[in-house]
Amino acid sequence: MNIHIEENVNLAQFTTMRVGGNARFFVRVASANELKEAVFFAREKKLPIFVLGGGSNTLVSGTGFPGLVMKIEIKGVDYSGTKIVVGAGEVWDEVVRDVVAHNMWGIENLSLIPGSVGGAVVQNVGAYGMEARETIFSVEALDTKTMAIKTFLNSKCEFGYRESIFKKNKNLIVLRTTLDLKEDSTPRTDYEDVKKYLAEQNISAPTLSMMRDIIIAIRTAKLPQPPLGTAGSFFKNPVVSSEQYEKIKKAFPEMKAYIQGDGTVKLSGAWLLDHVGRWKGVRTGDVGVHEKQALILVNYGSANADEIILLASEMKKSIKEKTGVTLEEEVVLL
Ligand code: EPU
Repeated sequence: MNIHIEENVNLAQFTTMRVGGNARFFVRVASANELKEAVFFAREKKLPIFVLGGGSNTLVSGTGFPGLVMKIEIKGVDYSGTKIVVGAGEVWDEVVRDVVAHNMWGIENLSLIPGSVGGAVVQNVGAYGMEARETIFSVEALDTKTMAIKTFLNSKCEFGYRESIFKKNKNLIVLRTTLDLKEDSTPRTDYEDVKKYLAEQNISAPTLSMMRDIIIAIRTAKLPQPPLGTAGSFFKNPVVSSEQYEKIKKAFPEMKAYIQGDGTVKLSGAWLLDHVGRWKGVRTGDVGVHEKQALILVNYGSANADEIILLASEMKKSIKEKTGVTLEEEVVLL
């Protein structure tokens, strides 16, 4: 056996939220074969498995996890023309930096998103008017049911808002992804914060490397950097029917909302939590809501998972009561 399985490993250190208990078993895997070995180990011992990437979107409970946590450390960045094959264990933002340095377009607006490439694929990360699915050509994954490695073309990945087949189907573990980049493109500047920044700085036609710098400047000003003590947006932006939207709009005419292609409406969760729930900046002890972004929960030092979950449930309850909207967690609870 090549893999080294550890016992009773504290998981707080592997997540940006920095809370939570122990994994009964813990292993780092650097290849598909190591991953298979780990899955066989879990199967023999009848243990549940959990796949951990960069830990920037996971909240571990105080009781920890009674099974095997596998930390994906599959590396590799291989360029072939405009396509690049990237290991799930690479750090997402290092790949973005490298791609921009290679003068290729497609993921520059996704600069500075914390976490691993695997995590970016599983939850189809998005920011500033761009989503990972626009550039993902295919994804290679291990199916733990059959132990076969399969390649999913983009159209088979079932991508949606923070959604994919790899998130829905726990049998699939992402090994690698192929990105399809562009040598030439126009900057994506339609997002509110980006437009505002360009106007303030008097920039009309940003280059590729300027776009990365602009996104970094916007994120750094608004979101905690480094993201320690947070897991990015704790909730997803809720998507409601047009009828429900019209009803809520009557009570809150200022509400930020975005009409989707299928007629549903994506509401701004941050706006609701901020202006309806008045949650922005609220803090009790060491747990609170970020001062500049109401979707972000913060562990200011010694908060525990239960305190964070309690705050999150109070936030959900208040929005439900005032608007009828159910906020769903964007973070994965373990
Ligand atoms: N707003 C408020 N109050 C706040 C924060 C924002 O009213 O406390 C308003 C803003 O004025 C803006 C709107 O809400 O009009 C949207 O805010 P923002 O641009 O910050 O984006 P978001 O929808 O809240 C999403 C992603 C972020 C991503 C940003 C930037 C989700 C759940 N979150 O946030 O992703 O960085 O867009 O594109 O979709 C993450 O997923 O972890 C994450 C950080």
